[in-house]
Amino acid sequence: MKKVQFPAGFSWGTATASHQVEGAWQEDGKGESIWDRFSHTPGKIKEAATGDVACDHYHRYREDVALMRTLGLNAYRFSISWPRLLPAGFGNVNPAGLDFYDRLVDTLLEARIQPFITLHHWDLPQVLYEKGGWLKRDNLSYFADYAALLVKLLGDRVQRWSTFNEPGVIAEAGYVNGDHAPGIRAGWKAGWQVIHHLLVAHGLAIQAMRAARPGLELGIVLSQWAVEPASDDPADGIAAEQGWSSHETAFTHPIFRGYYHPLMVVAMGEAAPEIQAGDMALIAQKLDFLGINSYSRIVVGANGIVNPVPGSDYTDMGWEVCAPSFRRMLNRINADYDLPPIYITENGAAYPDIVSPDGQIHDEQRIDYLRQHLQQLRLAMQDGVDVRGYFAWSLLDNFEWAEGNTKRFGLVRVDYATLERTLKDSAKWYAQVIAKNQVD
Ligand code: FCB
Repeated sequence: MKKVQFPAGFSWGTATASHQVEGAWQEDGKGESIWDRFSHTPGKIKEAATGDVACDHYHRYREDVALMRTLGLNAYRFSISWPRLLPAGFGNVNPAGLDFYDRLVDTLLEARIQPFITLHHWDLPQVLYEKGGWLKRDNLSYFADYAALLVKLLGDRVQRWSTFNEPGVIAEAGYVNGDHAPGIRAGWKAGWQVIHHLLVAHGLAIQAMRAARPGLELGIVLSQWAVEPASDDPADGIAAEQGWSSHETAFTHPIFRGYYHPLMVVAMGEAAPEIQAGDMALIAQKLDFLGINSYSRIVVGANGIVNPVPGSDYTDMGWEVCAPSFRRMLNRINADYDLPPIYITENGAAYPDIVSPDGQIHDEQRIDYLRQHLQQLRLAMQDGVDVRGYFAWSLLDNFEWAEGNTKRFGLVRVDYATLERTLKDSAKWYAQVIAKNQVD
């Protein structure tokens, strides 16, 4: 393939999340999060890893911003630890917590890197969970208050804000199958109620943020994977369409159309959530951008999910590498909804990464993955999808939730024994992409 040029002004970033990189889990007045509690519960995380230290970004953020500068990033997506800022979930601000985010934002701006903040990337204050968490309606206004507070505190310097990261994962992994914190296995009745509450919380937060500080760019980050048929057989096509409608539209339909997809409602059945009058209008707030996280696709046939897909390559997460489906997914979403500009807020690949005798990490597979996805992204943009930026997941190898430290997604390697950072070949490759605004 020939050289692929990106438009001037395109945002190039990397993404991280507070619990996955910060560490300092109980320092300087930080409250406990559900992920602290979960990772301290035996048997929940691979190799009994925790986020207690993670990448120690809390203490090493200056070094990490210097790395971002080496890469030439012009944007950086990170999340705020709610319990670091508000140890009780609401009420008094922890001054040391605020000071950390203040310094991080200022250090980024000095490096000419635009901060792109996620308010909630899964680390709910444990005390709020104990009050009922996302199953309870109260949590919605706590979230809206927290959102408004943050834009008052940092909105003078930070322009772009996302409410939630992948709210579907909070519901499914947190409350249905229990693989993630808070580790509840309550079935889909609870799962759907959590999804609905997260949607309403999103709407309330957008309203509260607009009232607290007008003029910001506000959005949400959703996980969207293409759902594609196993073959040309019409039965497989129907199954894939059913899979897309009843899985991938849970957030896009309510937010961009104001109602749940009819096939989704059928799929909910008796597990349908309680919806109060006015909820759907509240959810459908006008947004300034949509953040999309996408790593792979799901292949379905008339007999169910096909995995592995014959002939396909897989990453260390067991996720199929299929870049053309990334383009098709973007076109599908773009055709189905009247969308604001899109940012690809996460995309990347985990591989075992071997350190060579020369101390270097020649992560060719990751480079291949990123190259293919950027090529397909550019094609989607040429098809008419309005994409303004791309954030590679992740800047650093980090705490990969239930997988602990066993999955490495970083452009920069982290040695968990010494916390030493080493640029992988993919980091150097990405720096070239950014410098030329072009993929070779
Ligand atoms: C996404 C999460 C992110 C990271 C990647 C690999 O679902 O948003 O925190 O774990 O997957």
